[in-house]
Amino acid sequence: MCGIVGAVGINNPRDYAIEGLKMLEYRGYDSAGIGFLSDKINIFKDIGSPNHLDDILPSSFETELIIGHTRWATHGTPSKINSHPHLSCNRKIALVHNGVIDNANELRTFLLSQGYKFYSDTDTEVVVNLLEYFYLSSKDMHTSLTLLKDQLEGSYALAIINEDYPDSLFMLKKGSPLMIGKGKGFNLIASDASPMAKYTNEFIDLEDYDFGYISKKEIRIFDKNNNLVDRKPIVKDAESISHDLKGYPHYMLKEIEEIDEVVKRAISIYHEDNQYQFDSKLLKDLREADHVMFIGCGTSYHASLVGGRIFEICNNIPTTEYIASEWAFHPVIPGKKPFVILISQSGETADLIHCLKIIKEKNNVPTLLITNTPGSTLSRGVTYTVLLHAGVEVSVASTKAYAAQVALLALLSGALSKNEKMVVDLKDTIDVIDSIKNNLKQPIEQIAEEIKDHDNVFFLGRSFDYFLSLEASLKLKEISYIHSEAYPGGELKHGPIALISEGLPVIVFITDPTTASSMRSNIEEVKSRGAKVYVVATKSLSKKGDALIVDDYAHFLSGVAISSIAFYLAYFVSLKKGYNVDKPRNLAKSVTVE
Ligand code: M6R
Repeated sequence: MCGIVGAVGINNPRDYAIEGLKMLEYRGYDSAGIGFLSDKINIFKDIGSPNHLDDILPSSFETELIIGHTRWATHGTPSKINSHPHLSCNRKIALVHNGVIDNANELRTFLLSQGYKFYSDTDTEVVVNLLEYFYLSSKDMHTSLTLLKDQLEGSYALAIINEDYPDSLFMLKKGSPLMIGKGKGFNLIASDASPMAKYTNEFIDLEDYDFGYISKKEIRIFDKNNNLVDRKPIVKDAESISHDLKGYPHYMLKEIEEIDEVVKRAISIYHEDNQYQFDSKLLKDLREADHVMFIGCGTSYHASLVGGRIFEICNNIPTTEYIASEWAFHPVIPGKKPFVILISQSGETADLIHCLKIIKEKNNVPTLLITNTPGSTLSRGVTYTVLLHAGVEVSVASTKAYAAQVALLALLSGALSKNEKMVVDLKDTIDVIDSIKNNLKQPIEQIAEEIKDHDNVFFLGRSFDYFLSLEASLKLKEISYIHSEAYPGGELKHGPIALISEGLPVIVFITDPTTASSMRSNIEEVKSRGAKVYVVATKSLSKKGDALIVDDYAHFLSGVAISSIAFYLAYFVSLKKGYNVDKPRNLAKSVTVE
């Protein structure tokens, strides 16, 4: 993971770097650092998030050339010495790195044999010294970068300063994202567009093996064959990449409260003028498939479970859903004429990138990526991309993107069978979402108060309610650090019921008429063993004593209609425990390592 920024010739380099790194914190926040060139290279870095940079950097300084980094530790513990930027042995080259160098050990051994010394445990220190090694003999950065590129295995986005080139910021990219922001009299670089959005709306997405440099007036990019290339900038509007909290105390709360708008937007984009608006070739390929395989990680995997079941029920298409990191080790694509749907909010998840590579090695399997991130690494490798249009999701805990993924999959299912009722059902969920926002926050907060000091929580449901339980459980453990389990109601008696003890909170979703009565029996089973049960039910299935009651909706749309209940609950618990809601420990938003 990790996020990087760099700038040449910008007026306020200190602000750009610090504010930019704060926007990239979703990529990791174990440590942060900045390097800039004055008469020599200066480095300031420490453990902790970029918020600390204000304290460790001089309050003002002049420079034309700056690089910065926010880290999610892979090689080496989070420590000052392992923080980026890293300096080469002669202290004349500094760089920041996002990615993982697979052959770092071999390269380190080689450099040790050449007299190099290493002070950190990172793969990045190997890269900077190898670059210095090539530069000392070639005295030319272009040649050195070409040689470096040939030696490095793994993934990297690098921003590099060399004291001998006070006007140029060098870059090199493979596997990890890197973008250039085209300015007037300055140029920028960053892991995504957000840090640069305040300064420009023109961005160039670098491709794998691209390398080159930016100066105040020039952008020079060379491709993998060492040819100078003219990559056209794309224009992005500031609103779509804005990280403005808009008065909310946390991104997570803001993003939960955007769910209704996100669903409305998805309907208006993909069912414009009363007609489904998906690529006709995509629909044709999907209709011709005899099996659809879904693949995702975390929340996106949970959305795929919902999507798969909807496809099976509404479209009669057999589906299989896989966790990406598992599938990669038994890469079988079911069906004679399969179609693969990859789901990823970020479009940068390394486990999925690995799967896509394997899928592409198998001939002629059409692939669709459902993502929130235009131009992402995954979108460059698939046959089709469908965008969520959910707006930037900053909080590490995914909320609005999950609701958007489920809504999108429902719309795609509707388009496949030309089912107009799907749109009506989806529109109905908007009132349910709004009434939760307007009327149920207080009772949800009360439940949060009651469960916050427990060590364990259970979520139960059947079918679609089980899928929602999985997501609710992930959200709670992710940001409140309470151990939680999600189980299908009927599976409890096959083992986990042994864990039910006096007072254990059990949260149950009952929104499906076909499973409601079995679920009620399961509730009796846990109640009789002392559990404290909180039922979330739709009006027509509710009973006296249920904790939260919502209006009826098409039950297979729980992930859209009532996922906000699960999200608010996790949010309030985390808040009450005093944790960092948006930046839970050990995590990063975009998981770019396997
Ligand atoms: O960007 P992706 O959708 O591929 O990310 C997948 C997971 O890392 C992500 O959903 C993760 O589980 C969330 N932090 C959960 O809230």
